This record gives sequence, structure tokens and C-alpha cells, in this order.
Amino acid sequence: MLSPDKITFEPFKIKMVEPIPALDPLLPQALLHREKVLEAAKYNLFKVPAKDVTIDLLTDSGTSAMSQEQWSAMMLGDESYAQTVSFDRFVDAIHKVTGDKLLIIPTHQGRAAENILFQVLNDLANQYSAKTGRPLRRRVLINSFFDTTAANVMLHGKLIEDDYARRDELLGKDNASLALRQGTERLDQELKKASLIGRNQLVVDQTRPDLFEHGIFGGSIKLDKLEQILSDPQKRSEVMLVMITATNNTGGGLPVSLANMRAIRQMIDHYTTNDMTMYDGLPPLMFFLDACRFAENAYFIQQHEPDQRGRSVSEIAHDMFALVDGCIMSAKKDGLANIGGFLATRFPELERLSWEYMVEIEGFYTYGGLAGRDLEAIAIGMLEGVDDRRVKQRVEQVRQLWGWLNENGVPVKEPCGGHGVFLKGRAFWTGPDGKVLVQPEHLPGHLLAVELYRGYSVRSCEIGTIMFGDYDTKKKIVTKVAPDEDYVRLAIPRRVYSESHLRYVASGLIELHGQRLKANWKGMQFTYRPDSLPHFLSHFKPIPK
Ligand code: F0G
Repeated sequence: MLSPDKITFEPFKIKMVEPIPALDPLLPQALLHREKVLEAAKYNLFKVPAKDVTIDLLTDSGTSAMSQEQWSAMMLGDESYAQTVSFDRFVDAIHKVTGDKLLIIPTHQGRAAENILFQVLNDLANQYSAKTGRPLRRRVLINSFFDTTAANVMLHGKLIEDDYARRDELLGKDNASLALRQGTERLDQELKKASLIGRNQLVVDQTRPDLFEHGIFGGSIKLDKLEQILSDPQKRSEVMLVMITATNNTGGGLPVSLANMRAIRQMIDHYTTNDMTMYDGLPPLMFFLDACRFAENAYFIQQHEPDQRGRSVSEIAHDMFALVDGCIMSAKKDGLANIGGFLATRFPELERLSWEYMVEIEGFYTYGGLAGRDLEAIAIGMLEGVDDRRVKQRVEQVRQLWGWLNENGVPVKEPCGGHGVFLKGRAFWTGPDGKVLVQPEHLPGHLLAVELYRGYSVRSCEIGTIMFGDYDTKKKIVTKVAPDEDYVRLAIPRRVYSESHLRYVASGLIELHGQRLKANWKGMQFTYRPDSLPHFLSHFKPIPK
């Protein structure tokens, strides 16, 4: 038994309970039922009814348990159309948490904030290009794109009709002529690439955790790569935004160090001092934070950056926000709310331009697609989000699950991040002799997620080739697999599951891993795949052995 001082217990007790659906998942009839459920859901776990899931680790987004303070605050929701007290309380709470008087635009969730930001920046880039005759500023430099962020960049980054006429100039002559030679379809692909995706992910080398700063900051940006771009006036002039996602969701939920954020800020300031701005009232180049897991990131900084020990999560969060020109935030994560988000900026001009677009898609700028009661729940949730004991227990709970799996030989991404455990799908389906049991193009991560659900009624999510690969719809084959690995994320909802729930998950996975040589299937294949955000909507079928 551990000594009492080694035990991190939940900083809450439970007043209201929700029955676990699909209890007794190991009965033979439950297994048969799940097989039918999977078939009906076309083997996409997003289509599996929640009532047929025992432990749901699909996402940590919008799945938190709210506190009594949040529920009671909801009764005070001001449901007037405009300029509500709830909006004022929402803004006050965000000011307290960020330590700054940022201008706040509520949105119904994180991706709506992304949508607004990239619509506005893209408009500005177009105007700038038309005015100056310079190439469009379309590159976003980021540690890693989350898929909705990439999708929103793409959505607005696609070349507009007028740009077709200028494609030689925009793409560079060689690319444009190549694209033309290869036909219209190919041209479209080239034009898509000419927007922003892919080349600008500057996260540190994920295959070398031994080189992560202090052994943990695997979400940081490679500063030398960033400097190569920013120090070159031509390359710099193509950049629309520098962004950090903290923690880095697609890379195991690993954090970004405060030192890294400081260096990025200094580099931007240093190289852009004399640059022309895209718009009056804005700096030449902005630095934004995707803040949805900022409190977990701040906890890692507190624990691992030597000069930050002893400071509170809240103080460190203030320093993180002080370094950026604005942020987008999905309040469904560290905001402990079931819905909501916001866009924040220091610049009244950006706020004004965002309002113009947001009233068309989200609603008036004091409610942003949310009810007054949602704003109240987020306001309290943001404040609870930075409570040191809450963050500590949450991150340590994730690490406990990681430890059980790691000790028992289940391949996991190292080190452990903040919001979930990332299983390595390809390594999982490898025999003790190193034999590959599931080829990467047969979606090993997804097969693992399907088998974990089929056998144990635990729902997870592939973060691999489905999300980041390429697919030829005509030939019906995977043409590019995800780099490095096919991860399966066990995302842990906040304040929802106890240690024994997670023990069950670990023991199911350890058993499944032990039986991997006897797997029923050779892998999974797509039967339908949409172009955008394929993990939500694709259909699959198993490949028989
Ligand atoms: N940025 C990051 C890093 C995210 O993880 C998410 C959502 C978003 C933006 C978009 O926020 O869902 O409120 O629109 N991540 C969820 C997940 C979906 O499961 O990781 P949203």
C-alpha cells in the first residue's frame, strides 16, 4: 500500500450519479449485441449509440461532469438577446483566468472560433495581396494541426476564383504548370496543397522523446525551423499566423514549454519590427494560442520547468496568455463545460472584423450561439479549470492508466500527455517476434479501437491514418498513411471516471494485447470516406484473414 502522502485523490465527492450504460459488457450476449451494433454503425465508433458503450473514452471534449456551482449558476442565465449579465460574467471570468483584458467573442464551440479567425485572416490576406500585388499570405505556422483547425484553414484557404488566373504566381510556376499538365482533378489537389496544410507543422521530432526539453515538452515548436522561415523576408511575407496548440492533441497531448512560447514571441517581435501590416491596427504577424487544454499545459510547466516550480497553474496560465496576441478556445475541455468556446484578441480591429462575420453564422456577439445559461456554466468552469488540485488529479489519473499499460507491455506513446493515453496501433499489432500482424494501410489503429469496443465495450478514437492519411476514392485504397504511428486515443473525460473504471480499461487492453496473434481480422478498410474530417463520417468494413 502507498503511504497517504503519495495518494492523489479526487478533489470532489459525488452527489449525483448517472448509471453506466451497457453494464455487464463481458456476458456472451453483450458481445453478440456489440457485433451487431458495430455492423449497423459501419464500424465507425462515432456512429455507435452511447447507450451501447460501457466506458466512453471517445473524447474529453464536452464530456466533463459539471460542479454544483456550475449547475446552480445556470439558473441565473440571462436569456435576453443582447448585452446580458451572463455575457459580462463570462468575460470577467475569462479575464481572471487569462490575467488580461482580452476582447472576448463567444462561440458555440472551438471550431466556430477557428472558422471566424481564418475567415477574417483570409479576407485580410486577399485584400493585402490585391493592394500590394504581393503573393497571398496563407501559411500558418503551428506545432501540429488538430483536424478541425486544419479543416477550417482549408475551408478558407482554398483559392478563390480570381486566384485561378494568378495561379502561376501563387503556386510558383513549376507547380502550376505541373498541375495543369496533370489535369483538372490533379490541379484541384495541387491548389488544395497550395493553401496551407501539411508543410507548416513545426513540432519537435516525435520519434525522439529523449530529446524533448526536460523529457516532456514534446508539443514545442522546433525553433530553428521557425527561425529559418521568419528570418527570410520572402518566406516571412507568406505567413498569415503563428500558432501553438497547447497541449498538442494530435501528438499525445504533450505540452509546450513556457520557454518555447517566450522564444516564439521574441522571434516574431525581432523579425517583424519593420514589416508592413496586413491591416491597420494589427501587428505585422500575430501569434495565437489554441488554448483548449491550457490548464493541463500550465500544470506540466509547473511540474517540469525548473524556474516555474512552486508557481500556481493560474499564475503560469497568465504568463502563457501574456505572450500571445489572442487565442481560440474550446471551453469543452479545460473550461469544464459541455458546450461553448470563444475567440479572444488584443486588437479592437480584429474584434470588429470578427463581429461582422460572426453575426452571420453564430449569432449576436454577446451570446455566440450559446444560451445565457451556457455562458454562466463556462464562466464558473473556466475558474474551476485552473484549480491546482483539480488539474493535478486529472493529469495524474491519466498517467496512472498510462503506467498500468506501459508496465504490462501495451505499446503507448511516451511520455504520457495530459488528456489521454495514446496507444500505438501499429506496435500493438506486432507479434513477439516483430512480425507485422496488420499492415499500416489496413488501419491498425482503427482495428484496435474496434476490437477494444467489440471485446470490452470501451469506446476510443483513432488518431492516425483515418485522420491524417490520404485515400484514392476511385481506386479505393489508402495512398498515404499517417507519419510515425496510428494512435488510438483513450481520452479521459474530466471528473467522470474513477480509478476502478480505468483499471477495467487497462485490464481489457492487456488481455486484448495478449491475444493479438488470434485476432479475427487482418485490418479494416474504408467503404466510404468524405474528403473533410473523415474520422467523424467514414464507413468501414473488416478485412477477413
Ligand atoms: N483544437 C483542439 C486542439 C481540439 O482538440 C479541438 C477539439 C478543437 C480545437 C475544436 O474544438 O470540438 O469545441 O469545436 N477536439 C475534440 C477532441 C473534438 O476530441 O479532441 P471543438
